[in-house]
Amino acid sequence: MFLLIALLFSTAIAAALPAPGYTEGNLSQPLSQTGFTSWNAGAVTEFPIHSSCNATQRRQIELGLNEAVTLARHAKSHILRWGNESDIYQKYFGNSPSMNAIGAFDIVVNGDKKDILFRCDNPDGNCDLEGYAGHWRGENATGETVICDLSYETRRSLSTMCALGYTVSASETNTFWASDLLHRLYHVPAIGQNWIEHFADGYEEVIDLATENVTLSTHDSDTLQHFALEAYAYDIAVPGTGCPGSQHEHHDSDTAGPGTGGSEIMSTATATNGPSTTSEVPANCHTHDGGELHCI
Ligand SMILES: *[C@@H]1O[C@H](CO)[C@@H](O)[C@H](O)[C@H]1NC(C)=O
Ligand SMILES: *[C@@H]1O[C@H](CO)[C@@H](O)[C@H](O)[C@H]1NC(C)=O
Ligand SMILES: *[C@@H]1O[C@H](CO)[C@@H](O)[C@H](O)[C@H]1NC(C)=O
Ligand SMILES: *[C@@H]1O[C@H](CO)[C@@H](O)[C@H](O)[C@H]1NC(C)=O
Ligand SMILES: *[C@@H]1O[C@H](CO)[C@@H](O)[C@H](O)[C@H]1NC(C)=O
Ligand SMILES: [Zn+2]
Repeated sequence: MFLLIALLFSTAIAAALPAPGYTEGNLSQPLSQTGFTSWNAGAVTEFPIHSSCNATQRRQIELGLNEAVTLARHAKSHILRWGNESDIYQKYFGNSPSMNAIGAFDIVVNGDKKDILFRCDNPDGNCDLEGYAGHWRGENATGETVICDLSYETRRSLSTMCALGYTVSASETNTFWASDLLHRLYHVPAIGQNWIEHFADGYEEVIDLATENVTLSTHDSDTLQHFALEAYAYDIAVPGTGCPGSQHEHHDSDTAGPGTGGSEIMSTATATNGPSTTSEVPANCHTHDGGELHCI
């Protein structure tokens, strides 16, 4: 009797499910019409690149985005392995819970790419401004990033990490396609979620943020970029050495007394800024070192 009931049940279940290998209907129909929908149907796993990009532009942006993913993936792996035992982690994030930064890198690697677009047609005219290598379109199209011709001339591959004079502390984060595009992706709501913002501008402020306002560090764009670059340099490019450059030291003398200003030994590091284009910046935008345009 039990056997019979069990048998009846199993045949009922078997009847409700199509036999393996049997496909009902038309395979070019959406799966839902055959009774099944893949949980991730319609996932966009590649960064969309607009038709305004020609073959060589597309190829360079794709290679740059692949390197941005490589950089973010390694940053995540470094944190998963070492957490706050890592001196590099401590330097940038203090004792912040590690899942915040892990998530900020993972979304670049594994997040859905549907509401993101890279384009090459200069729709806002900002590529005509001197020193502009690209920009986030801001209120004109929050998911869109324009890459200007200057990027193809200046951005470097991660294979040159720690070469050609690059150091994490003294060089711009936009030296590399990888970190430049990581920054641009954090402006796009699908990736940065209006949560990753600019709280610090440049290496010195990033280090200050880690000591003074550490809770902002794991959602600060420049902090995430600098951490990723330093971890990649130290772990991958020149293992065990990296190229951190001169370290921030003025905190020691900050305690010497009010108004001393400390020994601003790093002040020369920022003397190599790109052209200032402040006077030409569109309303609601501002520039950072190296001619980066940021629009709110
Ligand atoms: C499958 O569905 C598509 C779209 O509805 C249709 O164009 C095509 O002719 C169908 N093929 C078969 C074999 O039924
Ligand atoms: C794509 O456009 C860039 C700049 O506008 C140009 O330098 C390059 O030669 C073009 N590539 C092709 C394959 O046409
Ligand atoms: C790292 O974080 C843990 C808690 O997650 C804390 O107990 C520990 O003190 C931190 N390590 C250092 C070196 O501060
Ligand atoms: C948005 O478009 C307007 C009008 O074309 C332009 O003036 C402005 O600079 C654009 N904004 C950005 C961030 O490019
Ligand atoms: C950092 O924290 C201080 C004091 O808590 C605050 O006054 C300041 O505005 C913060 N700085 C930033 C950049 O948020
Ligand atoms: Zn920015």
